[in-house]
Amino acid sequence: MDASEPGPLRIGVVGAGFMGRQHIDFIRAASGASLAAIADPVAPADVGHGTPVYADATAMLHAEQLDAVVIAGPNAMHVETAVECLEAGVAVLLEKPVATDYAESRRLVAAVARLDGRLLVGHHRRHHPSVARARAAILDGELGEIVAVSGLWSARKEDGYFTETPWHRRPGGGVMLINAVHDLDLLRHLCGEVAEIQAMRSSHARGLDVEDTVSLSLRFETGAIGSLLASDAGVSPWGWDQATEETLAFPYLPDGVAYRIVGTRGALSVPNLAKYTYDPAVAADWHSPLSRTYLPVAPRGSFQAQLDHFVDVARGTAEPLVPAEDAARTLALVEAAARSADLRATIDVEQFRASIDASEPA
Ligand SMILES: NC(=O)c1ccc[n+]([C@@H]2O[C@H](COP(=O)([O-])OP(=O)(O)OC[C@H]3O[C@@H](n4cnc5c(N)ncnc54)[C@H](O)[C@@H]3O)[C@@H](O)[C@H]2O)c1
Repeated sequence: MDASEPGPLRIGVVGAGFMGRQHIDFIRAASGASLAAIADPVAPADVGHGTPVYADATAMLHAEQLDAVVIAGPNAMHVETAVECLEAGVAVLLEKPVATDYAESRRLVAAVARLDGRLLVGHHRRHHPSVARARAAILDGELGEIVAVSGLWSARKEDGYFTETPWHRRPGGGVMLINAVHDLDLLRHLCGEVAEIQAMRSSHARGLDVEDTVSLSLRFETGAIGSLLASDAGVSPWGWDQATEETLAFPYLPDGVAYRIVGTRGALSVPNLAKYTYDPAVAADWHSPLSRTYLPVAPRGSFQAQLDHFVDVARGTAEPLVPAEDAARTLALVEAAARSADLRATIDVEQFRASIDASEPA
């Protein structure tokens, strides 16, 4: 290694549960990062492998010289722990959701600005190479003007998911905040801000308090409109998790589709990146032959790409792809959808955020 090159980024991980263990494995495998410490009050005995383990983030920050921290503990500790880390001068990769609600997220957004903090929120799907390519196709006008988008995520969760984990049965543990939040974040990333949202919500399939199925209608600020259907009660091969090899916990369907984006000059499905256009040499209307080409993209896992990006953010050589304020807007959209379902009304998303911004900070 060149003597002028910085050594691996020293990272501490807060929360060594389902997600934290994955971060630990990714850090251990990365060349630009090293696992310096773990903080978890009930860390499993086998998780350290010689890495120091602390009871909480405060003890870890006092004892270790860290460059960065990954926070993968319960949602309720996200903001408090992230602010503590930023105040200690370390960079933060914060798992989604950025906060428990939009009102609380404003405290983190303010702290990032006050401390000039380096913070990336873990909406990892944005780092998938097919998402970057689809976004470039949209922004470069390869599809013409975007008219509409449709998204679908459906998979049947096992009954034990609800019977064994009480909070999964209660509001906040349903398909909206656990699953559809990822799709809404990607739709915002691909198609821009949502101006209006209408939501219909159902608990019919499982009969629990929490919703199992949602249908959302979106109007984007660009003028495009869209829809998203999400269910954790319905069997289906359709959704991001089945269309990518991100997690082995889902059956993989090659050439699968999570989103269909239609423009005035072409259509694109994501993440398989099949692009449909008329032959420009012949009349281009609905009776013309359509050709399908696949946009080329180098395969790469989102989580590895996210970690590489985080190393750059921590070193100050890149701006975060998902800053706190951006992730807060995704959270506000989820809350606006819930409000819409409650009121059976269309919600103006900017007005909804402004009403919370005008209230006292959480
Ligand atoms: N990006 C994704 O796709 C994705 C997927 C799953 C979970 N998540 C997020 O990751 C986070 C963790 O979820 P999970 O499923 O791993 O939960 P989990 O319950 O499996 O793990 C949480 C861990 O945090 C530990 N913990 C509790 N209080 C702590 C404290 N004060 N300090 C340090 N550690 C503490 C617990 O002991 C536990 O080991 C959540 O915010 C969740 O939303 C993200």
